[in-house]
Amino acid sequence: MRVAVVGGGIIGLAIGRELLLHGVDVTVYDPSPEGTDGAWHVAAGMLAPGGESAFEFPYLEPLLEASNELWPTYAERLGNVGYDDAGTLSVALTADDLAEARREWAHQKLTVLTGSQARDLEPALSPRVRAGAFAATERQVDPRKVVAALRRELAGRIVHRHVSDLSGIEGRVVVAAGCGTAALTGLPIRPVKGQVLRLRGEPGLLKHVIDGAADGRHVYLVPRADGEIVVGATQEERSDRAITAGGVHDLLRAALDLVPGLAEHEITEWTVGHRPGTPDNAPIIGALDDRVIVAAGHHRNGVLLAPITARLVAGLVLTGSADPLLEAFSPGRFGCA
Ligand code: GLY
Repeated sequence: MRVAVVGGGIIGLAIGRELLLHGVDVTVYDPSPEGTDGAWHVAAGMLAPGGESAFEFPYLEPLLEASNELWPTYAERLGNVGYDDAGTLSVALTADDLAEARREWAHQKLTVLTGSQARDLEPALSPRVRAGAFAATERQVDPRKVVAALRRELAGRIVHRHVSDLSGIEGRVVVAAGCGTAALTGLPIRPVKGQVLRLRGEPGLLKHVIDGAADGRHVYLVPRADGEIVVGATQEERSDRAITAGGVHDLLRAALDLVPGLAEHEITEWTVGHRPGTPDNAPIIGALDDRVIVAAGHHRNGVLLAPITARLVAGLVLTGSADPLLEAFSPGRFGCA
């Protein structure tokens, strides 16, 4: 069987690899097969099913959880992709931040910690941090390493090509082109801008992923083993690529309010990416017609959802029928397919 995958971001590559492992003759088309244009290059790589699902779209939670369960083995098979299971400490600075966080922590069934209990886990936290909650199953991976590993496994099968019209491709097609999926399929997928900073300092300042709010400013801090700390992210309904004074200010202000020791870190990168968002901010995964399958619109969860998306799309390609988990994510909910 021959299948073309349009889009060589983390979703397209994961699907390509899965198909290849099942003996499919797969080709991945991407306009920049060795480049860094995808949202994956900007993403911090939090694997946070609880933190990211909250109250948004109730059917998303089982999909996020199912993919989170796949990640330990998935990462092991890919090799060194920065998989780190130290867990996530969610924190709140002010009484208002705590009131908002309490609703989410209750939803996730997490135990609320006092500020000093949170600092026992993470001594670099500010003495002003009021409360926290620890989520042991919210982990991280380095998306840049994941994409490098997927590209290696698909060596020779990723073709440099900008696909602007699906009629130019023969046979079965999987469209996994992120925000570009809208122009190819007519599906309602919009860009949601995120500005992200990377800081660098002595390794070991933070032991866990920190996800928190400081005076209403939301931020996450994702520490890598080599001393890099990814600071993200703004969420803006815009498609431009500007790094703005306000965006950087809000990220740094919140980061330094929560972890004052970051003031000594060097800013090594500032990047902008676009999450592919759908009207309900849940992904679109399913058949558009007899020939075309779509896997796009993963919004804030592209990295987390890559393994389950790949598995379910491969199942759909190989058997022609959709796993029940996919029911809620069909293109049909937006009047397509
Ligand atoms: N998953 C985090 C983000 O999209 O910013």
